[in-house]
Amino acid sequence: MSRKRVAVLISGRGSNMAALIEAAKDNSYPAEIVLVLSNKADAGGLVTARDNDIATEVVDHTPFGKDRAAFDAAMQSKLETHRIDLVCLAGFMRLLSPGFVALWQNRMLNIHPALLPAFKGLDTHRRAIEAGAKIHGATVHFVEPEMDAGPIIMQGAVAVRPNDTEAALSARVLAVEHRIYPAALKLVAEDRVRVVDNRCLIDGVPVPDTATLRPFP
Ligand code: GRF
Repeated sequence: MSRKRVAVLISGRGSNMAALIEAAKDNSYPAEIVLVLSNKADAGGLVTARDNDIATEVVDHTPFGKDRAAFDAAMQSKLETHRIDLVCLAGFMRLLSPGFVALWQNRMLNIHPALLPAFKGLDTHRRAIEAGAKIHGATVHFVEPEMDAGPIIMQGAVAVRPNDTEAALSARVLAVEHRIYPAALKLVAEDRVRVVDNRCLIDGVPVPDTATLRPFP
C-alpha cells in the first residue's frame, strides 16, 4: 500500500508536527509528511519543517478578514497542489468553514489537549486543575465544523497530581500528545478507522487497546 500524503497545519511551535515528522521517518510508517502549512509566516514549526526538507506553505489569514471560506479555499488550493490525502491540524488556531471541513470529512484529524468532550477550547490544563479533575489528557479526533468536536480516534490520559501547576500538567499531557498523534495517524493511514454513528470503530470494534494510553503509573 502506498504511503498517504499528509499535510500538517500549524500556527505555532509545532511540537506535535515534529512528532509526526519523526514517526514518518520510518519507511514502514503508512504516512509521509509532505507539506507543512501555516497561517503565520513566523510559526516556529516552519523552521523545523524546512530543516527536515519538508515543503512549507504560508497562507496568511489576515488579508481575508472575516471571509473564512475564501481563506479556506486558498488553503485547499495548496493542499490540492501537493496532492494531499490526509490533513493533521496541530495547534492550528483558525476555525474552519463547514464547506472546507466537509471536503475533508474523516480525512482531517485534530489533537486537543484534554479528554474530549470535556474542556473544549483554550486553557484546558488550568481549567482541569480548577475543576479538580483527577484525570486529564489529550484526544485525537476527526474534525467537524464545531470546534473540538468529532469522532474520537484515540485518547491518552495522565493523572492530575496534588499541587499540579498548569505548566507541569501541560508538559505531561504534551508528552502524551506526542505519542498518540503519530499512533492515531497510523491507524487512519492504514484505513483501519471507520466512523459509524459518530463513533470511531478501529478494526471494527469501538475501543481496542490501541486507542487508549493508560493513566498509571
Ligand atoms: C497542543 O497542545 C495541541 O494539543 C493544541 O495546541 C498545542 C500545539 O502545540 N491543539 P504544538 O504547536 O504542537 O507544540
